[in-house]
Amino acid sequence: MVDICKGKKLDFTIADVNEIYEGPVGVLWEMLMGEQIHVGGEKETDILANKVGINKDTTVLDVCSALGGPVRHLARKFGCKVTGLDAAQKMINEAIKRTEKEKLSQLITYKLGNALDMPFKAKTFDVVWGQDAWCYVTDKDKLISEAYRVLKPEGIIAFTDWIQVGNMTEQEWNDLNGFMAFPYMETLDGYEQILKKMRFEILEKEDLSKDFARHCHIYQSLLRDELKNAIIKEYGNEMFEAADDGLSKWVKAADEGKVGRGRLIGKKI
Ligand SMILES: C[S@@+](CC[C@H](N)C(=O)[O-])C[C@H]1O[C@@H](n2cnc3c(N)ncnc32)[C@H](O)[C@@H]1O
Repeated sequence: MVDICKGKKLDFTIADVNEIYEGPVGVLWEMLMGEQIHVGGEKETDILANKVGINKDTTVLDVCSALGGPVRHLARKFGCKVTGLDAAQKMINEAIKRTEKEKLSQLITYKLGNALDMPFKAKTFDVVWGQDAWCYVTDKDKLISEAYRVLKPEGIIAFTDWIQVGNMTEQEWNDLNGFMAFPYMETLDGYEQILKKMRFEILEKEDLSKDFARHCHIYQSLLRDELKNAIIKEYGNEMFEAADDGLSKWVKAADEGKVGRGRLIGKKI
């Protein structure tokens, strides 16, 4: 049994994440979720932006920006300056291409780099932002301390992430994290503790796990009913079977209250 507490990590590194997002996985996630690769899409981005109070004067750093869907959405909607940081060259290239096409380049910068060693000076941004991606990062303490460093005084950290919610067997823990290539997931309380340790004041901490389970079923139906043929045609039956098997495990674990999603907002003090 793996307790709902820290300690265990799978041996995934930035190289594995890179390989995965350079390959078909990035494409598959976009097929399932859209170019904003997180649960709830545009609606969730707006919720977080409104909670933070983003406006045209806010400078935002999106850590693990992938295709830049939320980056462009924020720039387009609020007129703010946004920087996207991602470790996968393919994601950065695609994000730049889409941004140029939308003529949003004057508001947006993309930077290739690791969230654990952010290529920015201290006190650069008003908001450090993340959506459903920090589960890939191998050291959440270091990630949050980097966020703290690059934030201006009284800056805001705002993110959603996939989290561990309940205890699970060793096999379940390995299967769930292994399928996604997550080294481990934080818990909601774990994130709160890290934020406090790094001297953030907690402004919001919300468990969104019921909504996460609902979305898992939506993605499973989409995969089986609408995307199956396209995936088999493009990537073969084995890829479809692997995706279906992995997603089924996530649906079950979400229904059983073992995995979920949370939202946290904190202020640098
Ligand atoms: C699920 S996607 C992010 C989705 C994005 N936040 C959105 O809402 O559209 C995960 C991304 O995290 C990036 N990533 C994972 N680990 C990283 C790290 N340590 N540093 C920078 N990027 C990382 C991957 O390259 C990938 O593009």
